[in-house]
Amino acid sequence: MKPLIVGNWKMNPQSFDEALKIFSEIAEGLKIVREGEVVLCPSFVHIFGLGSIYKGKTIAFGAQDVFWEEKGAFTGEVSPLMLRDLGCRYAIVGHSERRALGESNKNAEDKLKAALKAGLTPIFCIDKLSQIPRNIRGKFFIAYEPLFAIGTGKPCPPAKAKKMRILIERKVKAPVLYGGSVDSKNAASYIKEAGYRGLLVGGASLKPKEFVKIVRAVVQP
Ligand code: PGA
Repeated sequence: MKPLIVGNWKMNPQSFDEALKIFSEIAEGLKIVREGEVVLCPSFVHIFGLGSIYKGKTIAFGAQDVFWEEKGAFTGEVSPLMLRDLGCRYAIVGHSERRALGESNKNAEDKLKAALKAGLTPIFCIDKLSQIPRNIRGKFFIAYEPLFAIGTGKPCPPAKAKKMRILIERKVKAPVLYGGSVDSKNAASYIKEAGYRGLLVGGASLKPKEFVKIVRAVVQP
């Protein structure tokens, strides 16, 4: 299976012009990469604009979150069906930054189920084994993101990350991504040494040159 590299832009950048600039530079740098290996997750409000302009196939779109209901009176929420309609193929679910704002594991599991039902491929984030979803059918990824490594510049040592991957794979039948301070220097070690199936990249995915280097470090052209 080809490694999957997911870029999570979080609440950045602050204008569509900047988003387009970053996106275009990444797309240009990834022209030679095969389809289906790179996913970018911009803010909800930038997905439609970027998706309408982008004519390439290398980059797929993902959302940073998704609601568990399909429609109705849920002010401010975004339905999985809306995301599918925009051309999104992936959705991050249960990111630790959302959990820190009060999202429970039950909320995250409901979102996972709703995303699957709508035909999205969820990327379910965990930092503990106890957060792993049980009895879920369908294609989804787990992203192991240790809290101490997110946005800190202190990545998890690959040997430690490998142990965690093995424990996760014992509990759930899903490919596992690593996330937390991934950069172009450490990216390959999580795939080659630690055996992960891909990466979830935060800060570095907003730096086009660095993100392209990360992709090239793990994906053969
Ligand atoms: P980071 O973020 O790469 O900036 O550490 C990872 C994430 O939050 O998904």
